[in-house]
Amino acid sequence: MKILVVGATGSIGLHVVKRVIEIGHQPRALVRNRQKVKLLPRDTEVFYGDVSMPETLTDVVKGIDAVIFTLGSDGQGRIGARAIDYGGVRNILKMLEDKRVRLALMTTIGVTERLSDWNQRTQVHDWKRRAERLVRASGHPYTIVRPGWFDYNNADEHQLIMLQGDRRHAGTPKDGVISREQIARVLVSSLTSEAAKNKTFELVAERGKEQADLTPLFDALKVDEPQKIDGIQDLNNMPLSDEPDCIVRELNGLLLP
Ligand SMILES: NC(=O)c1ccc[n+]([C@@H]2O[C@H](COP(=O)([O-])OP(=O)(O)OC[C@H]3O[C@@H](n4cnc5c(N)ncnc54)[C@H](OP(=O)(O)O)[C@@H]3O)[C@@H](O)[C@H]2O)c1
Repeated sequence: MKILVVGATGSIGLHVVKRVIEIGHQPRALVRNRQKVKLLPRDTEVFYGDVSMPETLTDVVKGIDAVIFTLGSDGQGRIGARAIDYGGVRNILKMLEDKRVRLALMTTIGVTERLSDWNQRTQVHDWKRRAERLVRASGHPYTIVRPGWFDYNNADEHQLIMLQGDRRHAGTPKDGVISREQIARVLVSSLTSEAAKNKTFELVAERGKEQADLTPLFDALKVDEPQKIDGIQDLNNMPLSDEPDCIVRELNGLLLP
């Protein structure tokens, strides 16, 4: 597969690019900061662009079979959350037009939590959740991964656990921990797994050994309901009727192939 990695120079994206190469796929790294190209493995195909500027994205999806999104707008507040965590996903999906590809989107554990100071201030959860909704509505086969806290694992915590319903809302590593490498493994593996198709789950690691085969884990998850915009078993605390018109329009019309 030729896989576009959106967020390729980030702390997760770099692991994703490495993993993609390791298992014999070809990455195309979307890079906005030319200084960071040196972080990527030598000979990685690079496409320079900024997800918040659609005019820089022409041809970014040409010839690709899949997209992995590991974008992050950390530190840029609600404007960044809207432009990057949400707008970046929207702008790449728009580029796909009627081309059908496999998608993997990383958001976060706690993405449906709305009332914390963090979300009230940054709206990062809400914008990431809206990005999830775009992916579900897009008609492309997808997997949405909501990781716990990166690299907070104790030395013996490697066993992968996939949860649904997003009920862990402490906003601390108590919600679950996961290594960056494991997130990359799950994102990349999901692209070729029938069992991971159209599923949304939280990803954490607990005490025990990492499983060699992810299929039983993906198999045990419920598929998202096609008529619902949120993940299966998610709280219904962001109804479409409360959403701004422009967001509803993008969800309803713009993206459907
Ligand atoms: N930290 C945790 O424990 C944790 C847990 C769960 C979820 N998360 C979520 O994971 C995300 C952070 O992941 P990470 O550590 O990989 O983030 P990161 O290191 O900040 O990487 C973000 C990536 O997005 C790219 N990007 C940002 N704006 C862009 C733009 N306008 N155009 C193109 N690319 C752009 C960055 O490019 P540059 O390299 O050019 O900046 C970088 O490649 C956050 O959104 C956070 O909410 C974090």
